[in-house]
Amino acid sequence: QLDKIKELIQLREEARLGGGEKRIQKQHDKGKYTARERIALLLDEGSFEEVDMFVQHRCTNFGIDKKKFLGDAIVTGSGTIDGRLVYIFAQDFTVFGGALSEMMASKICKIMDMAMHMGAPVIGLNDSGGARIQEGVNALKGYGEIFQRNILASGVVPQISAIFGPCAGGAVYSPALTDFTIMSRGTSYMFLTGPKVVKTVTGEDVSQEDLGGASVHTTKSGVAHFAVDNEDDGLRLIRHLLSFLPQNNMEEAPFVECDDPIDRLEDSLNEIIPDEPNRAYDMYDVIGAVVDHGEFLEVHQDWAKNIIVGFARFNGMSVGIVANQPKVMAGCLDSNASRKAARFVRFCDAFNIPLVTLVDVPGFLPGTGQEYNGVITHGAKLLYAFGEATVPKVTVTLRKSYGGAYIVMSSKHLRGDINYAWPSSEIAVMGPSGAVEIIFAKDVKESDDPQRTALEKEEEYRKAFANPYNASSYGYMDDVIEPRNTRFRVIRALEQLRTKRLTNPAKKHDNMPL
Ligand code: COA
Repeated sequence: QLDKIKELIQLREEARLGGGEKRIQKQHDKGKYTARERIALLLDEGSFEEVDMFVQHRCTNFGIDKKKFLGDAIVTGSGTIDGRLVYIFAQDFTVFGGALSEMMASKICKIMDMAMHMGAPVIGLNDSGGARIQEGVNALKGYGEIFQRNILASGVVPQISAIFGPCAGGAVYSPALTDFTIMSRGTSYMFLTGPKVVKTVTGEDVSQEDLGGASVHTTKSGVAHFAVDNEDDGLRLIRHLLSFLPQNNMEEAPFVECDDPIDRLEDSLNEIIPDEPNRAYDMYDVIGAVVDHGEFLEVHQDWAKNIIVGFARFNGMSVGIVANQPKVMAGCLDSNASRKAARFVRFCDAFNIPLVTLVDVPGFLPGTGQEYNGVITHGAKLLYAFGEATVPKVTVTLRKSYGGAYIVMSSKHLRGDINYAWPSSEIAVMGPSGAVEIIFAKDVKESDDPQRTALEKEEEYRKAFANPYNASSYGYMDDVIEPRNTRFRVIRALEQLRTKRLTNPAKKHDNMPL
Protein backbone atom coordinates (compact mmCIF):
# COMPACT_ATOMS: atom_id res chain seq x y z
CA GLN A 1 0.00 0.00 0.00
CA LEU A 2 2.70 2.47 0.99
CA ASP A 3 4.56 1.77 -2.23
CA LYS A 4 1.44 2.51 -4.19
CA ILE A 5 1.01 5.82 -2.41
CA LYS A 6 4.64 6.61 -3.12
CA GLU A 7 4.02 5.86 -6.76
CA LEU A 8 1.05 8.24 -6.78
CA ILE A 9 3.12 10.99 -5.23
CA GLN A 10 5.85 10.40 -7.78
CA LEU A 11 3.43 10.46 -10.68
CA ARG A 12 1.95 13.70 -9.41
CA GLU A 13 5.38 15.24 -9.20
CA GLU A 14 6.14 14.12 -12.71
CA ALA A 15 2.87 15.57 -14.01
CA ARG A 16 3.55 18.88 -12.30
CA LEU A 17 6.81 19.18 -14.19
CA GLY A 18 5.02 19.20 -17.56
CA GLY A 19 7.66 19.13 -20.30
CA GLY A 20 10.49 19.18 -17.75
CA GLU A 21 12.81 21.65 -16.03
CA LYS A 22 14.60 22.71 -19.21
CA ARG A 23 11.47 23.66 -21.02
CA ILE A 24 10.11 25.41 -17.93
CA GLN A 25 13.30 27.46 -17.85
CA LYS A 26 12.84 28.31 -21.53
CA GLN A 27 9.32 29.47 -20.80
CA HIS A 28 10.58 31.68 -17.96
CA ASP A 29 13.35 33.05 -20.16
CA LYS A 30 10.68 34.33 -22.54
CA GLY A 31 9.07 36.22 -19.65
CA LYS A 32 6.21 33.74 -19.51
CA TYR A 33 4.71 31.73 -16.66
CA THR A 34 3.94 28.03 -16.93
CA ALA A 35 0.37 26.82 -17.10
CA ARG A 36 0.39 25.82 -13.42
CA GLU A 37 1.92 29.09 -12.30
CA ARG A 38 -0.79 30.98 -14.15
CA ILE A 39 -3.54 28.96 -12.53
CA ALA A 40 -2.02 29.46 -9.08
CA LEU A 41 -1.84 33.21 -9.60
CA LEU A 42 -5.36 33.47 -10.95
CA LEU A 43 -7.37 31.40 -8.50
CA ASP A 44 -7.99 31.95 -4.79
CA GLU A 45 -5.08 30.42 -2.95
CA GLY A 46 -5.33 26.67 -2.55
CA SER A 47 -8.67 26.47 -4.35
CA PHE A 48 -7.51 24.62 -7.47
CA GLU A 49 -9.04 21.19 -7.92
CA GLU A 50 -7.26 19.54 -10.83
CA VAL A 51 -8.76 16.85 -13.04
CA ASP A 52 -7.27 14.55 -15.64
CA MET A 53 -3.69 14.77 -14.45
CA PHE A 54 -3.05 11.28 -15.78
CA VAL A 55 -4.48 11.72 -19.24
CA GLN A 56 -2.01 11.06 -22.04
CA HIS A 57 -2.22 11.37 -25.80
CA ARG A 58 -2.81 8.13 -27.69
CA CYS A 59 -1.35 8.98 -31.05
CA THR A 60 1.16 6.60 -32.63
CA ASN A 61 2.05 8.55 -35.79
CA PHE A 62 5.64 9.58 -36.43
CA GLY A 63 6.83 7.80 -33.30
CA ILE A 64 5.26 10.20 -30.85
CA ASP A 65 3.90 7.27 -28.85
CA LYS A 66 7.40 7.23 -27.35
CA LYS A 67 6.95 10.83 -26.19
CA LYS A 68 4.23 11.04 -23.62
CA PHE A 69 3.63 13.42 -20.74
CA LEU A 70 1.22 13.04 -17.83
CA GLY A 71 -1.71 15.37 -18.33
CA ASP A 72 -0.58 15.99 -21.94
CA ALA A 73 -0.16 19.66 -22.85
CA ILE A 74 -2.87 21.11 -20.68
CA VAL A 75 -3.85 21.62 -17.05
CA THR A 76 -7.59 21.65 -16.32
CA GLY A 77 -9.89 21.83 -13.34
CA SER A 78 -11.97 24.11 -11.15
CA GLY A 79 -11.31 26.61 -8.42
CA THR A 80 -12.64 29.84 -7.03
CA ILE A 81 -12.14 33.53 -7.69
CA ASP A 82 -13.33 35.75 -4.85
CA GLY A 83 -14.99 32.62 -3.49
CA ARG A 84 -17.00 31.98 -6.67
CA LEU A 85 -16.65 28.77 -8.68
CA VAL A 86 -14.88 28.90 -12.06
CA TYR A 87 -13.63 26.27 -14.49
CA ILE A 88 -10.26 26.72 -16.04
CA PHE A 89 -7.92 25.26 -18.62
CA ALA A 90 -4.34 26.36 -19.20
CA GLN A 91 -2.36 25.14 -22.20
CA ASP A 92 1.14 23.98 -21.31
CA PHE A 93 3.67 25.22 -23.85
CA THR A 94 6.39 23.05 -22.29
CA VAL A 95 4.73 19.93 -23.72
CA PHE A 96 4.68 19.76 -27.55
CA GLY A 97 4.53 23.56 -27.61
CA GLY A 98 1.04 23.33 -26.10
CA ALA A 99 -0.14 21.89 -29.41
CA LEU A 100 -3.68 20.57 -29.17
CA SER A 101 -4.18 16.82 -29.20
CA GLU A 102 -7.42 14.91 -29.28
CA MET A 103 -7.00 14.04 -25.57
CA MET A 104 -6.24 17.64 -24.62
CA ALA A 105 -9.42 18.66 -26.35
CA SER A 106 -11.35 16.05 -24.40
CA LYS A 107 -9.93 17.49 -21.16
CA ILE A 108 -11.12 20.96 -22.16
CA CYS A 109 -14.52 19.63 -23.20
CA LYS A 110 -14.90 17.85 -19.86
CA ILE A 111 -14.49 21.01 -17.82
CA MET A 112 -16.64 23.01 -20.22
CA ASP A 113 -19.42 20.47 -19.72
CA MET A 114 -18.95 20.74 -15.96
CA ALA A 115 -19.12 24.53 -16.19
CA MET A 116 -22.41 24.30 -18.05
CA HIS A 117 -23.89 21.86 -15.53
CA MET A 118 -22.78 24.01 -12.62
CA GLY A 119 -23.50 27.37 -14.22
CA ALA A 120 -19.99 28.74 -13.75
CA PRO A 121 -17.64 30.81 -15.96
CA VAL A 122 -14.99 29.15 -18.14
CA ILE A 123 -11.55 30.68 -18.34
CA GLY A 124 -9.09 29.56 -21.03
CA LEU A 125 -5.40 30.44 -20.80
CA ASN A 126 -3.97 29.98 -24.29
CA ASP A 127 -0.33 29.34 -25.16
CA SER A 128 -0.12 26.83 -27.96
CA GLY A 129 1.38 26.02 -31.36
CA GLY A 130 -2.08 25.08 -32.65
CA ALA A 131 -3.37 21.71 -33.78
CA ARG A 132 -0.94 18.86 -32.99
CA ILE A 133 0.32 18.18 -36.46
CA GLN A 134 1.11 14.47 -35.84
CA GLU A 135 -2.52 13.78 -34.92
CA GLY A 136 -3.99 15.07 -38.16
CA VAL A 137 -7.73 15.14 -38.31
CA ASN A 138 -8.11 13.96 -34.70
CA ALA A 139 -6.59 17.25 -33.52
CA LEU A 140 -8.96 19.14 -35.78
CA LYS A 141 -11.87 17.13 -34.38
CA GLY A 142 -10.68 18.27 -30.96
CA TYR A 143 -10.97 21.91 -31.93
CA GLY A 144 -14.35 21.31 -33.48
CA GLU A 145 -15.66 19.80 -30.27
CA ILE A 146 -14.36 22.73 -28.24
CA PHE A 147 -15.91 25.25 -30.65
CA GLN A 148 -19.23 23.47 -30.46
CA ARG A 149 -19.17 23.85 -26.69
CA ASN A 150 -18.11 27.49 -26.94
CA ILE A 151 -21.16 28.06 -29.11
CA LEU A 152 -23.59 26.30 -26.80
CA ALA A 153 -22.12 28.00 -23.73
CA SER A 154 -22.38 31.44 -25.34
CA GLY A 155 -24.92 33.48 -23.42
CA VAL A 156 -25.21 30.77 -20.73
CA VAL A 157 -21.94 31.14 -18.79
CA PRO A 158 -19.33 33.86 -19.23
CA GLN A 159 -16.32 32.67 -21.24
CA ILE A 160 -13.01 34.50 -20.97
CA SER A 161 -9.86 33.84 -23.00
CA ALA A 162 -6.38 35.06 -22.21
CA ILE A 163 -3.69 34.70 -24.86
CA PHE A 164 -0.26 34.46 -23.26
CA GLY A 165 1.69 32.98 -26.18
CA PRO A 166 1.04 31.78 -29.70
CA CYS A 167 -2.53 31.22 -30.84
CA ALA A 168 -2.50 30.40 -34.51
CA GLY A 169 -4.59 28.73 -37.16
CA GLY A 170 -7.76 27.04 -36.00
CA ALA A 171 -6.79 27.79 -32.40
CA VAL A 172 -7.93 31.38 -32.77
CA TYR A 173 -11.55 30.45 -33.14
CA SER A 174 -12.15 29.34 -29.60
CA PRO A 175 -11.13 32.75 -28.18
CA ALA A 176 -13.09 34.42 -30.98
CA LEU A 177 -16.21 32.58 -29.86
CA THR A 178 -15.79 33.57 -26.22
CA ASP A 179 -16.98 36.79 -24.63
CA PHE A 180 -13.70 38.51 -23.82
CA THR A 181 -10.15 38.10 -25.10
CA ILE A 182 -7.10 39.44 -23.29
CA MET A 183 -3.65 39.54 -24.92
CA SER A 184 -0.25 40.12 -23.32
CA ARG A 185 1.89 42.69 -25.10
CA GLY A 186 5.05 41.38 -26.74
CA THR A 187 4.51 37.72 -25.83
CA SER A 188 1.26 36.79 -27.52
CA TYR A 189 -0.04 36.75 -31.04
CA MET A 190 -3.12 35.55 -32.87
CA PHE A 191 -3.41 34.93 -36.59
CA LEU A 192 -5.00 32.49 -38.98
CA THR A 193 -1.85 32.14 -41.06
CA GLY A 194 1.64 33.04 -39.88
CA PRO A 195 4.19 35.39 -41.49
CA LYS A 196 5.79 32.62 -43.59
CA VAL A 197 2.53 31.65 -45.26
CA VAL A 198 1.62 35.31 -45.70
CA LYS A 199 4.92 35.87 -47.49
CA THR A 200 4.37 32.89 -49.80
CA VAL A 201 0.79 33.74 -50.68
CA THR A 202 0.76 37.53 -50.83
CA GLY A 203 4.43 38.44 -50.92
CA GLU A 204 3.88 40.65 -47.90
CA ASP A 205 6.71 40.89 -45.35
CA VAL A 206 5.31 41.18 -41.87
CA SER A 207 6.51 40.26 -38.40
CA GLN A 208 4.47 38.16 -35.97
CA GLU A 209 3.92 41.24 -33.83
CA ASP A 210 2.71 43.37 -36.74
CA LEU A 211 0.50 40.62 -38.05
CA GLY A 212 -1.23 39.59 -34.86
CA GLY A 213 0.29 41.11 -31.73
CA ALA A 214 -1.72 42.56 -28.86
CA SER A 215 -1.62 46.08 -30.20
CA VAL A 216 -2.84 45.02 -33.65
CA HIS A 217 -5.83 43.23 -32.19
CA THR A 218 -6.76 45.87 -29.66
CA THR A 219 -6.36 48.89 -31.94
CA LYS A 220 -6.88 47.75 -35.54
CA SER A 221 -8.95 44.59 -35.74
CA GLY A 222 -10.87 44.65 -32.49
CA VAL A 223 -10.36 40.86 -32.18
CA ALA A 224 -9.06 41.28 -28.61
CA HIS A 225 -10.75 43.38 -25.95
CA PHE A 226 -7.84 44.05 -23.65
CA ALA A 227 -4.05 44.37 -23.98
CA VAL A 228 -1.96 43.98 -20.83
CA ASP A 229 1.72 44.61 -20.21
CA ASN A 230 2.35 41.26 -18.58
CA GLU A 231 0.65 38.08 -17.48
CA ASP A 232 0.23 39.25 -13.88
CA ASP A 233 -1.85 42.18 -15.12
CA GLY A 234 -3.81 39.85 -17.38
CA LEU A 235 -4.65 37.47 -14.54
CA ARG A 236 -5.64 40.37 -12.27
CA LEU A 237 -7.83 41.69 -15.04
CA ILE A 238 -9.70 38.39 -15.29
CA ARG A 239 -10.49 38.58 -11.56
CA HIS A 240 -11.60 42.20 -11.89
CA LEU A 241 -13.76 41.48 -14.93
CA LEU A 242 -15.50 38.56 -13.22
CA SER A 243 -16.41 40.81 -10.28
CA PHE A 244 -18.88 42.59 -12.59
CA LEU A 245 -20.41 39.43 -14.02
CA PRO A 246 -22.96 36.89 -12.81
CA GLN A 247 -22.02 33.22 -12.75
CA ASN A 248 -24.51 32.42 -15.49
CA ASN A 249 -27.50 33.77 -17.38
CA MET A 250 -29.96 32.77 -14.63
CA GLU A 251 -28.25 34.89 -11.99
CA GLU A 252 -27.60 38.53 -11.37
CA ALA A 253 -24.18 40.12 -11.07
CA PRO A 254 -22.81 40.28 -7.52
CA PHE A 255 -23.89 43.28 -5.49
CA VAL A 256 -21.02 45.22 -3.92
CA GLU A 257 -21.73 47.24 -0.77
CA CYS A 258 -21.43 50.89 -1.78
CA ASP A 259 -20.33 53.77 0.44
CA ASP A 260 -20.28 56.36 -2.34
CA PRO A 261 -23.36 58.51 -1.55
CA ILE A 262 -26.13 57.94 -4.06
CA ASP A 263 -27.18 61.60 -3.95
CA ARG A 264 -23.66 62.94 -4.53
CA LEU A 265 -24.11 66.13 -6.57
CA GLU A 266 -21.49 66.67 -9.25
CA ASP A 267 -21.49 70.40 -9.87
CA SER A 268 -18.83 70.01 -12.56
CA LEU A 269 -21.42 68.33 -14.78
CA ASN A 270 -23.54 71.48 -14.85
CA GLU A 271 -20.68 73.16 -16.66
CA ILE A 272 -19.21 70.37 -18.72
CA ILE A 273 -21.12 71.03 -21.96
CA PRO A 274 -19.29 73.80 -23.86
CA ASP A 275 -21.35 76.80 -25.04
CA GLU A 276 -20.04 76.30 -28.54
CA PRO A 277 -22.04 73.33 -29.99
CA ASN A 278 -19.10 71.93 -31.97
CA ARG A 279 -16.64 71.97 -29.07
CA ALA A 280 -15.79 68.63 -27.55
CA TYR A 281 -15.62 67.54 -23.95
CA ASP A 282 -14.43 64.26 -22.53
CA MET A 283 -17.10 61.65 -21.91
CA TYR A 284 -14.76 59.86 -19.48
CA ASP A 285 -15.20 62.84 -17.15
CA VAL A 286 -18.94 62.29 -17.16
CA ILE A 287 -18.64 58.54 -16.56
CA GLY A 288 -16.09 59.07 -13.80
CA ALA A 289 -18.33 61.61 -12.11
CA VAL A 290 -21.47 59.50 -11.96
CA VAL A 291 -20.44 55.89 -11.27
CA ASP A 292 -19.52 54.47 -7.84
CA HIS A 293 -16.10 55.82 -6.80
CA GLY A 294 -15.36 56.72 -10.43
CA GLU A 295 -14.42 53.09 -11.04
CA PHE A 296 -14.84 52.04 -14.68
CA LEU A 297 -13.54 48.88 -16.35
CA GLU A 298 -13.37 49.77 -19.99
CA VAL A 299 -13.70 47.13 -22.70
CA HIS A 300 -12.07 47.74 -26.10
CA GLN A 301 -10.39 50.86 -24.79
CA ASP A 302 -8.18 51.37 -27.84
CA TRP A 303 -10.46 50.35 -30.68
CA ALA A 304 -13.28 52.45 -32.14
CA LYS A 305 -12.66 55.12 -29.55
CA ASN A 306 -15.61 57.19 -30.77
CA ILE A 307 -17.74 54.99 -28.55
CA ILE A 308 -16.95 53.93 -25.00
CA VAL A 309 -18.18 50.67 -23.47
CA GLY A 310 -17.41 49.03 -20.15
CA PHE A 311 -18.53 48.00 -16.70
CA ALA A 312 -19.17 50.14 -13.65
CA ARG A 313 -21.47 50.14 -10.64
CA PHE A 314 -24.29 52.37 -9.52
CA ASN A 315 -25.00 52.00 -5.81
CA GLY A 316 -23.29 48.60 -5.89
CA MET A 317 -25.21 47.34 -8.91
CA SER A 318 -23.18 46.18 -11.89
CA VAL A 319 -24.10 47.95 -15.14
CA GLY A 320 -22.84 48.12 -18.69
CA ILE A 321 -22.13 51.63 -19.90
CA VAL A 322 -22.36 52.64 -23.55
CA ALA A 323 -21.38 56.23 -24.28
CA ASN A 324 -20.55 58.31 -27.34
CA GLN A 325 -17.20 60.08 -27.07
CA PRO A 326 -17.45 63.66 -28.45
CA LYS A 327 -13.66 63.93 -28.28
CA VAL A 328 -13.14 61.35 -31.03
CA MET A 329 -14.70 61.97 -34.45
CA ALA A 330 -17.20 64.23 -32.66
CA GLY A 331 -18.79 61.04 -31.27
CA CYS A 332 -20.09 59.92 -34.70
CA LEU A 333 -21.12 56.30 -35.02
CA ASP A 334 -19.30 54.27 -37.66
CA SER A 335 -18.98 50.62 -38.60
CA ASN A 336 -16.45 49.68 -35.93
CA ALA A 337 -18.15 51.66 -33.16
CA SER A 338 -21.43 49.95 -34.01
CA ARG A 339 -19.86 46.48 -33.96
CA LYS A 340 -18.04 47.18 -30.72
CA ALA A 341 -21.08 48.50 -28.90
CA ALA A 342 -23.46 45.91 -30.35
CA ARG A 343 -21.41 43.02 -29.04
CA PHE A 344 -21.15 44.63 -25.63
CA VAL A 345 -24.87 45.36 -25.43
CA ARG A 346 -25.66 41.77 -26.36
CA PHE A 347 -23.27 40.47 -23.71
CA CYS A 348 -24.92 42.60 -21.03
CA ASP A 349 -28.38 41.59 -22.14
CA ALA A 350 -27.47 37.89 -22.13
CA PHE A 351 -26.16 38.17 -18.58
CA ASN A 352 -28.81 40.38 -16.97
CA ILE A 353 -26.58 43.42 -16.66
CA PRO A 354 -28.57 46.67 -16.97
CA LEU A 355 -27.50 49.17 -19.62
CA VAL A 356 -26.82 52.83 -18.98
CA THR A 357 -26.40 54.76 -22.23
CA LEU A 358 -24.94 58.27 -22.40
CA VAL A 359 -25.77 59.99 -25.66
CA ASP A 360 -24.03 62.77 -27.55
CA VAL A 361 -24.07 61.72 -31.18
CA PRO A 362 -24.17 63.91 -34.27
CA GLY A 363 -25.10 60.94 -36.48
CA PHE A 364 -23.39 58.25 -38.51
CA LEU A 365 -20.08 59.06 -40.19
CA PRO A 366 -20.78 59.91 -43.85
CA GLY A 367 -18.73 58.91 -46.89
CA THR A 368 -17.80 56.17 -49.30
CA GLY A 369 -15.32 54.67 -46.83
CA GLN A 370 -18.17 53.83 -44.49
CA GLU A 371 -20.81 52.99 -47.08
CA TYR A 372 -18.52 50.62 -49.03
CA ASN A 373 -17.60 49.00 -45.75
CA GLY A 374 -21.23 48.22 -45.01
CA VAL A 375 -22.03 50.79 -42.33
CA ILE A 376 -25.72 50.16 -42.96
CA THR A 377 -25.39 46.54 -41.86
CA HIS A 378 -22.98 47.34 -39.02
CA GLY A 379 -25.11 50.22 -37.74
CA ALA A 380 -28.09 47.90 -37.85
CA LYS A 381 -26.25 45.58 -35.46
CA LEU A 382 -26.26 48.18 -32.74
CA LEU A 383 -29.84 49.09 -33.47
CA TYR A 384 -30.74 45.43 -33.28
CA ALA A 385 -28.80 44.89 -30.07
CA PHE A 386 -30.48 47.73 -28.21
CA GLY A 387 -33.87 46.84 -29.62
CA GLU A 388 -33.74 43.19 -28.62
CA ALA A 389 -32.27 43.86 -25.16
CA THR A 390 -34.72 43.20 -22.35
CA VAL A 391 -32.53 44.23 -19.41
CA PRO A 392 -33.23 47.55 -17.68
CA LYS A 393 -32.24 50.35 -20.05
CA VAL A 394 -31.57 53.85 -18.76
CA THR A 395 -30.55 56.50 -21.28
CA VAL A 396 -29.27 59.99 -20.64
CA THR A 397 -29.03 62.40 -23.57
CA LEU A 398 -26.37 64.98 -22.83
CA ARG A 399 -26.27 67.03 -25.99
CA LYS A 400 -26.70 66.02 -29.62
CA SER A 401 -28.88 63.17 -30.71
CA TYR A 402 -29.50 63.36 -34.41
CA GLY A 403 -31.12 61.22 -37.03
CA GLY A 404 -30.84 57.45 -37.17
CA ALA A 405 -28.25 57.61 -34.41
CA TYR A 406 -30.91 59.09 -32.08
CA ILE A 407 -33.06 56.02 -32.60
CA VAL A 408 -30.13 53.60 -32.27
CA MET A 409 -28.79 54.91 -28.97
CA SER A 410 -31.28 53.17 -26.69
CA SER A 411 -34.12 55.55 -27.50
CA LYS A 412 -37.62 55.26 -26.08
CA HIS A 413 -38.68 53.71 -29.38
CA LEU A 414 -36.36 50.74 -28.83
CA ARG A 415 -37.95 50.03 -25.48
CA GLY A 416 -35.74 52.38 -23.47
CA ASP A 417 -37.22 52.21 -19.97
CA ILE A 418 -36.17 55.56 -18.55
CA ASN A 419 -34.89 58.25 -20.90
CA TYR A 420 -33.52 61.42 -19.38
CA ALA A 421 -32.31 64.54 -21.15
CA TRP A 422 -30.01 67.26 -19.96
CA PRO A 423 -31.17 70.83 -20.69
CA SER A 424 -28.39 71.04 -23.30
CA SER A 425 -30.00 68.30 -25.44
CA GLU A 426 -30.60 68.80 -29.15
CA ILE A 427 -32.80 66.13 -30.66
CA ALA A 428 -33.63 66.32 -34.35
CA VAL A 429 -33.33 64.64 -37.73
CA MET A 430 -30.10 66.54 -38.36
CA GLY A 431 -28.06 69.55 -37.27
CA PRO A 432 -29.27 73.12 -38.03
CA SER A 433 -27.04 74.00 -40.99
CA GLY A 434 -27.69 70.73 -42.85
CA ALA A 435 -31.41 71.03 -42.22
CA VAL A 436 -31.59 74.62 -43.44
CA GLU A 437 -29.79 73.69 -46.65
CA ILE A 438 -32.51 71.20 -47.40
CA ILE A 439 -35.78 72.60 -46.14
CA PHE A 440 -35.07 76.31 -46.63
CA ALA A 441 -32.96 76.10 -49.79
CA LYS A 442 -35.50 78.10 -51.78
CA ASP A 443 -35.91 80.81 -49.09
CA VAL A 444 -32.15 81.24 -48.88
CA LYS A 445 -31.68 81.31 -52.66
CA GLU A 446 -34.43 83.87 -53.24
CA SER A 447 -33.41 86.13 -50.37
CA ASP A 448 -31.74 89.54 -50.88
CA ASP A 449 -29.29 88.54 -48.24
CA PRO A 450 -28.89 84.73 -48.42
CA GLN A 451 -26.36 84.57 -45.59
CA ARG A 452 -28.61 86.45 -43.17
CA THR A 453 -31.63 84.37 -44.17
CA ALA A 454 -29.68 81.15 -43.64
CA LEU A 455 -28.65 82.29 -40.18
CA GLU A 456 -32.20 83.32 -39.34
CA LYS A 457 -33.56 80.01 -40.51
CA GLU A 458 -30.91 78.15 -38.51
CA GLU A 459 -31.95 80.11 -35.45
CA GLU A 460 -35.57 79.26 -36.08
CA TYR A 461 -34.65 75.59 -36.42
CA ARG A 462 -32.52 75.69 -33.31
CA LYS A 463 -35.36 77.19 -31.31
CA ALA A 464 -37.63 74.38 -32.42
CA PHE A 465 -35.30 71.41 -31.91
CA ALA A 466 -32.12 72.35 -30.06
CA ASN A 467 -33.71 71.63 -26.70
CA PRO A 468 -35.02 68.67 -24.79
CA TYR A 469 -38.58 69.99 -24.54
CA ASN A 470 -39.73 69.17 -28.03
CA ALA A 471 -38.96 65.45 -27.58
CA SER A 472 -40.30 65.63 -24.02
CA SER A 473 -43.58 67.07 -25.24
CA TYR A 474 -44.27 63.72 -26.91
CA GLY A 475 -43.12 61.70 -23.91
CA TYR A 476 -39.96 60.49 -25.69
CA MET A 477 -37.93 61.86 -22.80
CA ASP A 478 -39.30 60.95 -19.39
CA ASP A 479 -37.73 63.93 -17.70
CA VAL A 480 -35.27 66.74 -18.17
CA ILE A 481 -32.72 66.57 -15.38
CA GLU A 482 -30.06 68.80 -13.94
CA PRO A 483 -26.70 67.37 -15.02
CA ARG A 484 -25.24 67.43 -11.48
CA ASN A 485 -28.11 65.20 -10.38
CA THR A 486 -27.43 62.50 -12.97
CA ARG A 487 -25.95 59.93 -10.57
CA PHE A 488 -28.92 60.10 -8.26
CA ARG A 489 -31.48 59.94 -11.05
CA VAL A 490 -29.79 57.00 -12.77
CA ILE A 491 -29.62 55.09 -9.48
CA ARG A 492 -33.29 55.79 -8.79
CA ALA A 493 -34.15 54.60 -12.30
CA LEU A 494 -32.11 51.40 -11.91
CA GLU A 495 -33.73 50.67 -8.55
CA GLN A 496 -37.14 51.13 -10.00
CA LEU A 497 -36.27 48.76 -12.86
CA ARG A 498 -34.89 45.94 -10.74
CA THR A 499 -38.00 43.82 -11.11
CA LYS A 500 -38.34 44.43 -14.83
CA ARG A 501 -39.60 41.41 -16.72
CA LEU A 502 -39.82 41.52 -20.48
CA THR A 503 -39.47 38.68 -22.96
CA ASN A 504 -39.10 38.63 -26.71
CA PRO A 505 -41.25 36.43 -28.93
CA ALA A 506 -40.25 32.74 -28.97
CA LYS A 507 -38.20 31.80 -32.02
CA LYS A 508 -35.56 29.29 -33.01
CA HIS A 509 -33.09 32.13 -33.13
CA ASP A 510 -32.98 35.58 -34.58
CA ASN A 511 -31.43 36.64 -37.84
CA MET A 512 -29.56 39.74 -36.80
CA PRO A 513 -27.68 41.58 -39.55
CA LEU A 514 -24.21 40.06 -39.26
N1 COA B 1 2.13 20.30 -33.47
C1 COA B 1 3.03 19.53 -32.85
N2 COA B 1 4.10 20.00 -32.22
C2 COA B 1 4.26 21.32 -32.19
C3 COA B 1 3.36 22.20 -32.81
C4 COA B 1 2.26 21.64 -33.48
N3 COA B 1 1.33 22.40 -34.06
N4 COA B 1 3.77 23.45 -32.61
C5 COA B 1 4.89 23.38 -31.88
N5 COA B 1 5.21 22.08 -31.65
C6 COA B 1 6.34 21.55 -30.88
C7 COA B 1 7.64 21.73 -31.62
O1 COA B 1 7.85 20.65 -32.49
C8 COA B 1 8.64 21.74 -30.47
O2 COA B 1 8.83 20.44 -30.06
P1 COA B 1 10.27 19.97 -29.50
O3 COA B 1 10.59 20.91 -28.39
O4 COA B 1 10.06 18.58 -29.08
O5 COA B 1 11.22 20.12 -30.64
C9 COA B 1 7.87 22.44 -29.37
O6 COA B 1 6.49 22.32 -29.70
C10 COA B 1 8.19 23.90 -29.22
O7 COA B 1 8.07 24.52 -30.49
P2 COA B 1 9.18 25.48 -31.09
O8 COA B 1 8.89 25.62 -32.55
O9 COA B 1 10.53 24.99 -30.71
O10 COA B 1 8.85 26.80 -30.27
P3 COA B 1 8.96 28.30 -30.74
O11 COA B 1 8.65 29.12 -29.57
O12 COA B 1 10.25 28.51 -31.47
O13 COA B 1 7.80 28.49 -31.85
C11 COA B 1 5.55 28.35 -32.75
C12 COA B 1 6.43 28.37 -31.50
C13 COA B 1 4.11 28.15 -32.29
C14 COA B 1 5.68 29.68 -33.50
C15 COA B 1 5.98 27.25 -33.72
O14 COA B 1 6.12 26.05 -32.98
C16 COA B 1 5.00 27.01 -34.84
O15 COA B 1 5.01 27.73 -35.83
N6 COA B 1 4.14 25.97 -34.69
C17 COA B 1 3.15 25.63 -35.69
C18 COA B 1 2.01 26.60 -35.71
C19 COA B 1 0.93 26.18 -36.66
O16 COA B 1 0.91 26.58 -37.81
N7 COA B 1 0.03 25.34 -36.16
C20 COA B 1 -1.06 24.82 -36.87
C21 COA B 1 -2.22 25.70 -36.67
S1 COA B 1 -3.80 24.86 -36.70
